[in-house]
Amino acid sequence: MEISEWSDALRLDFVPLDTLNRELIEDLARAQRADNGELLQAWVDLVAHVAAHFGQEDRWMRTTGHGQSEAHALEHRVVLNLLREGLAQARNGQLAPVRQMARELGTWFTRHTQSFDAALALHLRSHTRT
Ligand SMILES: [Fe+2]
Ligand SMILES: [Fe+2]
Repeated sequence: MEISEWSDALRLDFVPLDTLNRELIEDLARAQRADNGELLQAWVDLVAHVAAHFGQEDRWMRTTGHGQSEAHALEHRVVLNLLREGLAQARNGQLAPVRQMARELGTWFTRHTQSFDAALALHLRSHTRT
């Protein structure tokens, strides 16, 4: 499996968001590298990080009146629900669909970061400057 890694293509030049996104990549990479005995715990940690990460972004959007917040928050909800389904599967010992999810999450994350998170970073940078 291709392992996700941080790159400059993901940098949004807004440190709080970059920090969250970098942490997500680290947790995702750990899940992608995990062997069968490690995958459940790695997935538990990934879901916990993602829930906190999306929750923080959703709060920033609400409190600063970000225009794209509904579509962005909807994508967060859909993905978090999928990851939680994966958690239930991992707890049942169904690891193949979880590995598939770990692969797809890498692709999704790049696209999400470069679109929704990039727009949010731009908004937060101008918001914190004024
Ligand atoms: Fe993010
Ligand atoms: Fe986001």
